[in-house]
Amino acid sequence: MRILIFGATSAIATEAARAWAERGESLFLVARDKKKLKALAADLKARGAAHVAVLDCAAEASKAHASLPVKASKALGGLDAALIAHGVLPDEERCRRDAAYALATLQVNFNSVVSVGTPLAAFFEAQKAGVMGIISSVAGDRGRASNATYGAAKAGVSAWASGQRARLAKSGVHVATLKPGFVDSPMTSHLKKGPLFASARKVGRGVVNAMDKRKDTSYLPGFWKPIMLAVIHLPSPIFKKLKL
Ligand SMILES: NC(=O)c1ccc[n+]([C@@H]2O[C@H](COP(=O)([O-])OP(=O)(O)OC[C@H]3O[C@@H](n4cnc5c(N)ncnc54)[C@H](OP(=O)(O)O)[C@@H]3O)[C@@H](O)[C@H]2O)c1
Repeated sequence: MRILIFGATSAIATEAARAWAERGESLFLVARDKKKLKALAADLKARGAAHVAVLDCAAEASKAHASLPVKASKALGGLDAALIAHGVLPDEERCRRDAAYALATLQVNFNSVVSVGTPLAAFFEAQKAGVMGIISSVAGDRGRASNATYGAAKAGVSAWASGQRARLAKSGVHVATLKPGFVDSPMTSHLKKGPLFASARKVGRGVVNAMDKRKDTSYLPGFWKPIMLAVIHLPSPIFKKLKL
């Protein structure tokens, strides 16, 4: 398989890329940090990737997103799959008093997913084959006080991915929505870790499995599915009283 990864330096994406490298896939890594990209490419080559190419590109660089699928396809001799993995966890306290900051986080967590995903969807639709994995979050299932802005962006990502999946199915293209719960990664380095935290390795391998099996929506790890079912259906008067 030939796979493009946007946000390749993320801990979860890195672990997915390692799983792909170990089975000899070819990878086109896109991320904003050239140094991290170089180190990741060396790591993946050492693990057995057939071919690794890199490109630095930020989530805000929307004009550069249109050419990513063609660049990846040229570098790898075709493109079979893509994973969109980048994201930021905003300071929700700051979002409450600084709308410009809140909007900037929505730009990274939602708008740029559409900006990167739209040309990828068009590319796969034109070749009538492909798998797109899009990392959303359990946070998008119901807006919580502690992460309303992040949750809103991820709700948008989940809805957009669902719509693309329904649209592209008739072209033989699959869109996998990936919903991790708490993951021990740089994004959560400031948070106290509890029993609900999973390793980036476990979640990264879950991403690969979900894309391989062309699953529609995957909770990662799977125990989040019943948890979120309960959270979604909690009556509002109770939900408002909880410190979530
Ligand atoms: N960790 C969790 O608990 C958790 C839970 C649910 C969902 N998720 C989602 O999982 C995905 C991966 O997160 P992670 O846990 O692997 O965290 P991570 O290791 O902190 O990765 C975040 C990635 O996003 C990239 N990024 C941030 N802002 C960017 C920008 N403006 N332009 C380009 N790249 C940017 C970062 O690049 P740099 O390396 O250059 O900083 C990094 O590669 C995200 O979509 C996140 O929302 C995470």
